[in-house]
Order: sequence, then C-alpha cells, then structure tokens
Amino acid sequence: MMDAERLAALPGLLLPWYAQHARALPWRSDREPYHVWLSEIMLQQTRVEAVKGYYARFLAAVPDIPALAAADPDALRKLWEGLGYYSRVRALHSAAQAIMAQYGGRFPQEFAEVRALPGIGDYTAGAICSICFDAPTPAVDGNVLRVVARCTGLRACVDEERTKREVRAALAAVYPAGRSGDFTQALMELGATVCLPNGAPACHICPLAGRCAARDGGWRSLPVRREKKSRRHEERTVLLLRCDGMTAVRRRPEQGLLAGLWEFPNVPGHLDPAQAVALAEDWGVSPRELEREARRHHVFTHVEWDMRCFVLRCAAAPEGALHWVSREELEREIALPTAFRMFRDL
Ligand code: ADE
Ligand code: SF4
Repeated sequence: MMDAERLAALPGLLLPWYAQHARALPWRSDREPYHVWLSEIMLQQTRVEAVKGYYARFLAAVPDIPALAAADPDALRKLWEGLGYYSRVRALHSAAQAIMAQYGGRFPQEFAEVRALPGIGDYTAGAICSICFDAPTPAVDGNVLRVVARCTGLRACVDEERTKREVRAALAAVYPAGRSGDFTQALMELGATVCLPNGAPACHICPLAGRCAARDGGWRSLPVRREKKSRRHEERTVLLLRCDGMTAVRRRPEQGLLAGLWEFPNVPGHLDPAQAVALAEDWGVSPRELEREARRHHVFTHVEWDMRCFVLRCAAAPEGALHWVSREELEREIALPTAFRMFRDL
C-alpha cells in the first residue's frame, strides 16, 4: 500500500518549492469560488495555455454566478467554442441555477454540497474546497496520481476508482492546516511542470527527489495504467454550401456528441465530387460550382473523424433543416466546434 512516511513528507517538501516556483496564473490571483470553479472546469482535459484566453473572455462576459445563471445557453456555448467537451458548459450553467435556487447565489462551502452540484466530481469539489475554503480535501487528477504513484512507489492501477479513493484518503491525512489550497496546487504544479507524463520527468530539479521511490528510472513503469481502448475511426463528408455570401449551418441534436452545437451539413462516409453535388441537389440548394475540396482529421475522446470537405457555390438557399448565416454571424454568434471550424475559412 501507500508509503505513509513518504506521503507525510510531501507538504514540507512541496510547499516551499511551490512558494518559489508557482506559475502566476489568472485564476490564482484570488480565492473567489466562482473563479476557481470556472478555471478548474476549463482545465479538465485542456492545457493551461489554451485555457487562459477562454477564461478571461468568459469572465468578462459572465462576471459572476447570477450572470451565469441568467445567461443565454447559446451565448455560453459560443464562449466555449473550440474548448471541447461542451457538456461542461451546460453543467456549469445548471450548477449556477442550482446555486441561485438553493443557496441564494452564494457558492456553498461544504464539500458534500459542492460535490452535489452538476458537473462537479470529487476532483473539482476537492480543488474548490481546499483552494477557497482551506479544507483538507485533495483534488486527485491524472497529474496528482502520477506524482503520488511515483513518489510512493504505488503499483496499484490508478485508473481504478478504488485506487483513487485510497490516494484521496491517504493525502487527506497529511493535508497541512492553513495551507490546503497551496498544497493542492503544489501537487498539480509538480505534475504539470516537473514530474511530466511523456518522456523523462525532471528529477534533477524535483523537490521530492531525495524521497522518491521512482527517481532512478522507476518512473518508467509508473503510474500503472489500464490499457486504453482504441478509438473508432469514421469517415465523414462535410458540405460547405455558400449562396450569396451566406453559409449553410445546422443545429446538432440535443443528445450525443457535440450536443446542441452548430455544424456544417455532413454525412457519414466519403463521397466523391459528383456524389457531393448530387447530395446538394437533393437538399434543394442548386449547386453551381465546386470551388474547393479539403481533407481534415479530428480526434475526439472515443472517435476520430476523417473528413472530406467540399465547398460548393449554390444558387438557392432554402430554409428548413438548413440555416443560412453571414460570415459575421458565423464568427460572432454561431458556436461551431473545432471539427467544423477548421473549414470555416476555406
Ligand atoms: N490543472 C488543473 N487545475 C489547475 C490549476 N489550478 N492550476 C494549474 N493547472 C491546473
Ligand atoms: Fe517525479 Fe522524478 Fe520527482 Fe520522483 S523525483 S516525483 S519521478 S520528478
């Protein structure tokens, strides 16, 4: 099991290191729960550098929880455009409404109350409660699991819920009173900047090196992960239909991949140019000219799309399933996921 002595040494080694080496990040300038919450949701599955701009724009447009609760879902999706995992922004919206209804707009402080909000799991609740309320509630994500597994020599599979539970409990027992938020972020920071996931960790500059079970190459086999399921590959054909400066988009279904977002009309499989023109004719858009074609690849969590795109100049713009928007609307209002945004500027 986990090496209690090595764990107990973590706060004393990490806190001084963190005080010196913490990156100055926008969401670290205060302990306002709304700010910490928003940043932690955005940072799930997303790199810090990619999040910074989104975080600033989101806060400028939606400054507090009442504003979030009252926001238009489409405007929120637009603010999230390109960040991916769009169910996160829907859950954020629902949680804000729950905070208004249940807590009068004030963010709850009890772990169990925070954990019960939509879109907030053990990781996010732990991060918020430790950073904002100084609670001894670890935030155990992939970075933290890697650091703990390596430094303690833990060989249990870190993808098992049981292992995560054990790591949370073992860390909670060594949380430093009064410095909970710094300890949470120090663990994350070490995983993000020193004890790196791909390639060699920077053991020579690591504050844990003197106590680490994995320093002398042991890191190569830690943490122990479950084998990943491979992604499904799908071919799709995307039609970029242009008529009088307007472009055709349509709304995706409210369930499933990219739920409720906009897309350029597309079909499964790879069509050839003649088939693409014939399909456009079926849709009643009177295609006149095939202007361009392009290929793009997009990787989602469980599926990869190999996309072939045709840009067709059309003479008719029937409303119905299709919705015709100007270039300006496409940029300012329509939330287009990255898989389709790649074709927007063709
Ligand atoms: N990754 C997840 N949460 C983070 C945070 N608060 N700071 C930096 N990287 C993070
Ligand atoms: Fe990771 Fe190396 Fe530090 Fe151990 S010494 S925690 S393997 S960076």
